[in-house]
Amino acid sequence: PTPVILDVDPGHDDAMAILLARADPRVDLLALTVVAGNQTLDKCALNARRVCTIAGIDDVPIAAGADGPLARSLRIADDVHGASGLDGPQFGKPEVDLDDRHAVELIYDTLRAHPEPVTLIPTGPLTNIALLLREHPDVRGRIHEIVLMGGSTGRGNVTPYAEANIYVDPEAAAEVFESGLDITMVGLNVTHQALVTGDVVARLREIGTPLADTCVQMMTFFGSTYRELWGMPAPPLHDPVAVARVIDPSLVRCVDAPVRIETRGEYTAGATVTDLHHLSGRPDNARVAVELDQPRFWDLMIDAVADYPAN
Ligand code: BDR
Ligand code: CA
Repeated sequence: PTPVILDVDPGHDDAMAILLARADPRVDLLALTVVAGNQTLDKCALNARRVCTIAGIDDVPIAAGADGPLARSLRIADDVHGASGLDGPQFGKPEVDLDDRHAVELIYDTLRAHPEPVTLIPTGPLTNIALLLREHPDVRGRIHEIVLMGGSTGRGNVTPYAEANIYVDPEAAAEVFESGLDITMVGLNVTHQALVTGDVVARLREIGTPLADTCVQMMTFFGSTYRELWGMPAPPLHDPVAVARVIDPSLVRCVDAPVRIETRGEYTAGATVTDLHHLSGRPDNARVAVELDQPRFWDLMIDAVADYPAN
């Protein structure tokens, strides 16, 4: 299996990404790290522990990291994910603890200890990853690739041109995209192909386990905010698409392109300026996801939830 570290800000779709990354035998989830994004760091870390508790994941270290962006104040997404960051289900007391280390140190230790280079899958703002590269440049060679959910080849979801994960910490995103590491951008243009339709919710409900019921409750809340805010009949399940790309690259078609992060634009800070037509003459620095195999993606996601034991 491909060794991976998942860096999350749960978040409804982050929760589903955790479930997918732990269940699929083609990836080995070495660590789960948390960054402030959809909610404050404390709430996101609590949510990561809640998700691991309901799924019975007690063998993956979880660490909290950056409590805000490198150079800006935190902008949370309570309009999408609610006051807790994971509104919908009722969660009991979490039964898994946080690791004592800062997320950056847990990632560093894990990269150094693992015999093979490890894939990083960030599905929140890129603050923890940028800090890792700043504080531990020696570890670059231990990173196989970074497959991140963030950005867009087209329009944004926070401002007309900026997607939330990049908008929250554009300086961190710029450092990661300019790092020279192998980067895959799984942006809104492809995650909006992963819509949690009524059919998907029905398939989750059919599984019939308490975990699947919790997923139904999460997706129902997530769907309600997308309906209210965007008028969309079904919400996009962004973060698991990045995990799916690592599990089976044939699920997510990519093209190479130069991608620059707008950090200063008057109206466009946080935009991922994606030069799909190579107009700039700049070298490619990212693989850009463009097309999702939807039926196979949903089979993967639903099978992952169904794989957890029923208790
Ligand atoms: C991204 O922002 C967050 O709200 C989601 O969890 C996802 O990572 C989508 O723009
Ligand atoms: Ca996220």
